[in-house]
Amino acid sequence: MASLRPMIQLTRWRAPAYAPAALRRCFATASDVRNTASAAQQQPHSDNRVKIVEVGPRDGLQNEKKSIPLATKIELIEKLAKTGVSVIEAGSFVSPKWVPQMDNSSEILEHILTNKIPSPVPITYSFLAPNAKGAENATALLKKHSGAYLTEAESFQGVGGKPAVELAVFASATESFSKKNLNCDIATSLERFRDVIQGAKQLGIRARAYISVVLGCPFEGHDVNPHKVAEIATSLLEMGADEISLGDTTGMGTAPRTQELLKCMTAAGIRNEDIAMHFHDTYGQALVNMAISLERGIRTFDSSVGGIGGCPYSPGATGNVATENVVYFLESLGMETGVDLDAMADIGQWISEELGRPNDSAVGKAVLGARSKAG
Ligand code: HMG
Ligand code: MG
Repeated sequence: MASLRPMIQLTRWRAPAYAPAALRRCFATASDVRNTASAAQQQPHSDNRVKIVEVGPRDGLQNEKKSIPLATKIELIEKLAKTGVSVIEAGSFVSPKWVPQMDNSSEILEHILTNKIPSPVPITYSFLAPNAKGAENATALLKKHSGAYLTEAESFQGVGGKPAVELAVFASATESFSKKNLNCDIATSLERFRDVIQGAKQLGIRARAYISVVLGCPFEGHDVNPHKVAEIATSLLEMGADEISLGDTTGMGTAPRTQELLKCMTAAGIRNEDIAMHFHDTYGQALVNMAISLERGIRTFDSSVGGIGGCPYSPGATGNVATENVVYFLESLGMETGVDLDAMADIGQWISEELGRPNDSAVGKAVLGARSKAG
């Protein structure tokens, strides 16, 4: 029974005053809703836009055993670009010995830089680059095609028509996972990331930084120290990272642990706008954990179309929470994602068929089912 106590407390929470009205209603009692409904109508919240980072082409595909043709990867990226998402994680400059599926990331970046991919909104294409070698490979292409992508300064001026590019490093919250995933300890990885982040800044592009296993580690269990996560995040922000994506790599995260982690981040002085949440849905807790994160003011979430994916260094971990589920959930709360759910559902079904696996998005399947019934 003791383990249920945090969840019972959760049902008694009151969302803070700055939370969106729809979310406040979720956690309120019926009489709270009656008392606050008219006030909420008078004061609409401007804080209801959520940024979705579509990670399917990288996190979704990296673990697939069968080699996926470059043309399919590019087709996936081009389809996603039409849905209204503003960030697509498109590849990974890592060792092909360890992650062979990402071997053609150079071709993908070059394709993005040399073809005008149609999209209704400006898109940032993100690529993992965890060390000097990865950063050099990405940077060589960016220098070759300088002028083909937007620098941060240009994006701020609203210059249109070109893609923006971002490099992403990935730290670990535990030493065991760091050794497995990065072949070095946390301190060494951070020193490597400093150079990658500085390299990105010199090119005038954004740098993202992941921290993996923040809510549970395949080797150290639930024993992940949230203060350590906050300390690593602070170091990465001080190096110049623009955003910290907190990775629940194993999907072991629960609502109370998500709450505790985000409280620690706030206590360490880290701003909500510098945080993204990256939930894998192994235990089906991703949307619950998202609700907690939303309530605490987080507005950036990573997700993967069709729920595809998994981490090669996290045995048993399934894909990220499906983008279709995330969009449906957020919009049910009255929040805006800018993402076309119908189009996303079609892509989820298409890529699942391409990969020869069942569609892992409940919402995707429901949307398609309802459409075929209506038609
Ligand atoms: P290393 O320290 O050089 O050692 O790389 P290594 O023994 O792993 O390197 C093996 C070979 O790869 C060497 O070549 C290196 O030169 C080469 P060899 O001498 O044998 O011919 N190499 C590279 N080749 C191309 N690009 C590179 C590169 N680096 C080394 N960048 C490193 C350490 C971590 C870079 C390497 O082990 C590696 O790439 N590992 C793969 C890690 C990975 O991709 N993990 C999955 C992504 S992270 C993730 O999924 C979590 C996330 O989604 C968030 C979450 O869910 O929590 C982001
Ligand atoms: Mg991941």
